[in-house]
Amino acid sequence: MHIILIYFLLTLSFHHLQGETQNDGYTINLIHRYSPMSPLYNSAMTLEERFQRLAHHSATRHIRHINNLKSNYFDTDIIPSDGDYLVKMVIGNPPVDLYAIADTGSDLIWVQCKACDVCYSQTTEMFDPKKSSSFKTLPCNSTFCSNDPNMQCDDDTGTDCEYFYAYGNGSTMSAGIMGTDLLTLDSTNTNTSCVFGCGLVQDGGFDNNAGGLVGLGGGPLSLVSQLGPTISNKFSYCLTPTTSNYTSRLTLGNSPSTTVSKPAVVTPLVNQDNPTYYSVNLKAISIGHQEVEVNKDLVIDSGSTLTYLDPDTYSRLESIVKALIPEEPMENPLPGFKLCFDKKTGLKIAFHINFKLNGGDVLLVDSNFFIEFSKSVCFSIVPSEGDDDPMILGNIAQVNFEVEFDLKRKTVSFTPRNCTQNP
Ligand SMILES: *[C@@H]1O[C@H](CO)[C@@H](O)[C@H](O)[C@H]1NC(C)=O
Ligand SMILES: *[C@@H]1O[C@H](CO)[C@@H](O)[C@H](O)[C@H]1NC(C)=O
Ligand SMILES: *[C@@H]1O[C@H](CO)[C@@H](O)[C@H](O)[C@H]1NC(C)=O
Ligand SMILES: *[C@@H]1O[C@H](CO)[C@@H](O)[C@H](O)[C@H]1NC(C)=O
Ligand SMILES: *[C@@H]1O[C@H](CO)[C@@H](O)[C@H](O)[C@H]1NC(C)=O
Repeated sequence: MHIILIYFLLTLSFHHLQGETQNDGYTINLIHRYSPMSPLYNSAMTLEERFQRLAHHSATRHIRHINNLKSNYFDTDIIPSDGDYLVKMVIGNPPVDLYAIADTGSDLIWVQCKACDVCYSQTTEMFDPKKSSSFKTLPCNSTFCSNDPNMQCDDDTGTDCEYFYAYGNGSTMSAGIMGTDLLTLDSTNTNTSCVFGCGLVQDGGFDNNAGGLVGLGGGPLSLVSQLGPTISNKFSYCLTPTTSNYTSRLTLGNSPSTTVSKPAVVTPLVNQDNPTYYSVNLKAISIGHQEVEVNKDLVIDSGSTLTYLDPDTYSRLESIVKALIPEEPMENPLPGFKLCFDKKTGLKIAFHINFKLNGGDVLLVDSNFFIEFSKSVCFSIVPSEGDDDPMILGNIAQVNFEVEFDLKRKTVSFTPRNCTQNP
């Protein structure tokens, strides 16, 4: 795809990313796309409809993760219609407000730019680089541009860095030029010049309410990697239940210092070819004294609703779960799920599921692995298609944990916390 650059740039001073280390992190609201606070909220949708859409998003996202992890592609995870959490983003000078998908499963930050040749309709104001006095294009010789296989130097100008991100069979894509501008989430003090994509050609299924995407992955282009020492190389989130009227939190920097009910489980991130994904080693899953051995990588993903296990691990876990629930499962589980029970039967779930990691156990309570609908209850852990597909810890399983990523020490910690309370 050839990108026509239709504007020129004002050059102003470039704010360097190195800032002082902060003691306290900046807390930002994370708005679940289907929570009442979301601009995507449609009150006419039932809980079943909302979750089925989420299950569908989860499935398409899982397929993309499979493709990303199997190929050597750096990061093609760009679709703003499928991450589950939105953040308010303020970009440029004068500042433009928009909502963007916050995604731990991808790195690139991009916004749809006013100058776009092929655009999707967007309900909020579009960022116009010509009107921002602090916008600069990213030169081709910057390391961000030369190290990323999805970027190249524009033939026409010979100086501007172009990006091209495509998903799956290429039917959904964003392409444009890379630039830098002041960027802040919500109204925090992280107003810093960041490298991001200015999307000029968008094609495929994009959501009208999201003006872009904020990558929070582990690769160099993600917001958290770019902010680096400014946020003590750390970020965390605390997710509330999807149906909650309270927003989830994203914290850039040290997580809020509150009294914790139990000590955190700190586990190392495992190295893998794709630096975007946060993976840990899942040793086993246990319920009471019964244990399923696993010893595989598990991707911690806030953008995936459901949790995916390989088919063999899943079926061993499912047998234990079924044996602990006296009621018969529904013959036809809701679409997207494998195991559902009828609520009429007076179902009681009286057990916890333990994800055993190096460094400790993450104890999931029933609301972390069962979703309650009006007439049924479904297991939010599902099998992946193939044995080699990545296993994913989705966001339902992470509700009411402070999940903190330390990019310098390369660890992730899980601390049980009531996320609907103020930090
Ligand atoms: C990149 O190129 C510009 C001019 O084309 C030059 O001034 C600058 O020093 C170069 N930067 C690096 C890191 O090579
Ligand atoms: C790509 O995939 C989408 C969604 O699965 C499908 O609608 C489209 O026809 C496919 N395009 C091509 C060129 O195969
Ligand atoms: C970010 O800082 C610039 C000046 O450095 C200022 O003009 C702009 O209003 C700030 N943006 C926000 C959202 O505070
Ligand atoms: C959320 O707020 C709505 C309307 O303000 C209310 O009807 C609903 O019961 C609340 N939900 C919860 C879980 O508190
Ligand atoms: C969390 O705190 C809120 C407000 O204090 C309370 O309503 C809710 O029941 C608590 N949730 C859990 C899971 O303890």
